Amino acid sequence: VVLILDFGSQYTHLITRRIRSLSVFSLCISGTSPLKSITDLNPSVIILSGGPHSVHAPNAPCFPDGFIEYVESKGVFVLGICYGLQLIVERLGGCVRAGEKQEYGRMEIEVEKACGLFGGSKKVGDKQVVWMSHGDEAVKLPDGFEVAARSQQGSVAAVECPGRRFYGLQYHPEVTHSPEGMETLRYFLFDVCGVTAGWKMEDVLDEEIKVIQGKVGPEDHVICALSGGVDSTVAATLVHKAIGDRLHCVFVDNGLLRYKERERVMETFERDLHLPVTCVDATEQFLSKLKGVVDPEMKRKIIGKEFICIFDDFAQRLERDLGKKAVYLVQGTLYPDVIESCPPPGSGRTHSHTIKSHHNVGGLPKDMKLKLIEPLKLLFKDEVRELGRILEVPSAFLKRHPFPGPGLAVRVLGDVTEGNALEILRQVDEIFIQSIKDAGIYDTIWQAFAVFLPIRSVGVQGDQRTHSHVVALRAVTSQDGMTADWYNFEHKFLDDVARKICNSVRGVNRVVQDITSKPPSTIEWE
Ligand code: XMP
Repeated sequence: VVLILDFGSQYTHLITRRIRSLSVFSLCISGTSPLKSITDLNPSVIILSGGPHSVHAPNAPCFPDGFIEYVESKGVFVLGICYGLQLIVERLGGCVRAGEKQEYGRMEIEVEKACGLFGGSKKVGDKQVVWMSHGDEAVKLPDGFEVAARSQQGSVAAVECPGRRFYGLQYHPEVTHSPEGMETLRYFLFDVCGVTAGWKMEDVLDEEIKVIQGKVGPEDHVICALSGGVDSTVAATLVHKAIGDRLHCVFVDNGLLRYKERERVMETFERDLHLPVTCVDATEQFLSKLKGVVDPEMKRKIIGKEFICIFDDFAQRLERDLGKKAVYLVQGTLYPDVIESCPPPGSGRTHSHTIKSHHNVGGLPKDMKLKLIEPLKLLFKDEVRELGRILEVPSAFLKRHPFPGPGLAVRVLGDVTEGNALEILRQVDEIFIQSIKDAGIYDTIWQAFAVFLPIRSVGVQGDQRTHSHVVALRAVTSQDGMTADWYNFEHKFLDDVARKICNSVRGVNRVVQDITSKPPSTIEWE
């Protein structure tokens, strides 16, 4: 395994993804994890990520005591990126200082020494464009280290100490703004460290099936909450393959679903996926608890709690009526949720996943009787889609845009039960999504949806003054939902959609578009 130690950079997850894309399994844990968490994984290569700190800051995160001794005694290769490079330099007896000039953004570096990081293809004097983001710089290298490249301004850009298996890059090879960064990672892993590629999704599937079969006893039954989204559907299909009809899926209509969602999803589950699904209509139960609640976190908590009550109830009925004891609950938790649930202390990273309580992570009650099975918890979204293809989940299903667990509750701002907000939102959303499909751009968008705003504006419709609702349209592109850019529709498309919405949805007289990326916004509005 290639282990990434996270020191709080916004790009840490990208390093993990890039390495997996080279068919090498990589995992990411906090850079301040205890030494045992590192040694238990027995990594052959460790990459120290960047981070927002100076190594001299009072609470600067650092690898645990004994780390250097461990990697040297085991012959583990270490690559430090940005802050990671500075940590290596400082801890091995070199010196890091605040640079005279800070280097942010696109920079040119020049090779000073033909080194393993650049493969055989780069000679002394060759230049390449890289992406940098640092204030500190290495001014004295530890014994045995050599400079392999410098920036235009003369600061250290790459170092190596092959004898001790330490390497470092002051720039970020993992971002696409470093066009030759992937090449560098490839040279480092395969040529320098001698790693062999071979990690495949088929192996992940076989492995997961074995793990589930080993975990779930012959008399145990498993419950899976199907949301109709990619993650829970792939998770359920995988578990079904492992234990057959000891899996019992439940689809909850919480009254917060999209237009005809329940009918559409149930049909796919039964007709295409042959999954055993029970549909529970809990609209009243959810909406009565949400009445008058306007705080987004409170809404999430209430919804999470109700879901758990329903699963517990479902498990009890299974035992009482059919004599089947449910011991496990399947969750479609993904790797970004896991990474973002525990950023390194003091990293300063305020990612959305830590500022909103996603109900499938950390929102489960401590006294829940069911144990968890999370077969996707080491995978990114695109990897889950690939797994779904291997499991023959219909591609239309795999391409569906993500839909949050709390559903339309986080898209009706304020009290979801007020007036006919939910119904208006369903109609607007359906027109928007259908128009996107008709325009043939659904698959190029990560997520598109409408938001119901708790304000009214003045309009004029049919020669009459109206005082009606405002809806917002949001569409973003993204790789994994952790960062996102707003989607730039053609004017004609927007014009047509806005016209259609105002003409066919009663109670709406104004349509606006959200043109913020993430960060600074999040994808959802609440
Ligand atoms: P944000 O709004 O945090 O969303 O930028 C990132 C991605 O996560 C989805 N999301 C959720 N999914 N439960 C979920 O299962 C939640 O509470 C939740 N909140 C946001 C969001 O739709 C986007 O794809």
